[in-house]
Amino acid sequence: MKKLLYPGSFDPVTNGHLDIIKRAAALCDELVVAVFINNEKKPLFSVEERISFLKKAAGEIENVTIASFTGLLADYAEKIDAKAVIKGLRDETDYAYEKKMDRINKKLYPGFETILMFADGELDYVSSSVVKEIAGYGGNINGMVPDFIAKELIRKTNT
Ligand code: PNS
Repeated sequence: MKKLLYPGSFDPVTNGHLDIIKRAAALCDELVVAVFINNEKKPLFSVEERISFLKKAAGEIENVTIASFTGLLADYAEKIDAKAVIKGLRDETDYAYEKKMDRINKKLYPGFETILMFADGELDYVSSSVVKEIAGYGGNINGMVPDFIAKELIRKTNT
């Protein structure tokens, strides 16, 4: 597969995301990891911070490109000529959401495919929101995010 797109909020990128990035990159020529800029939501980390975390954690994988986009995923995919998106699947809730997103994206960009990759069994409880909540209460987030992001989370959620 030539170009695969892995979109997300990545607020912040977790070890679950990084596991999908490594496994997905092994299946394609180029993996574009794209941070969605959602003007409706107030993220904990700025787009610049989220991109820099991704670059530090995954930028050394040869065929991984870190980017950002706003607007519809289908429009962005068409613009960069990506024929498929890859998503990590943790549970049934993810499945129901991704099934709906696939229908929407296919309507907007006919032929566009969603590829689902099961999350690592050791990491399928990890999400950016869970990590932020635990860090906010001073809990232990070791193993859920890279150490440098854990430090940033502790700093940010305690200011
Ligand atoms: O990490 P997330 O927040 O679960 O990622 C969700 C994301 C960014 C992949 C999804 O919200 C998305 O594709 N947003 C772009 C806007 C869009 O195309 N929405 C679908 C039509 S409603």
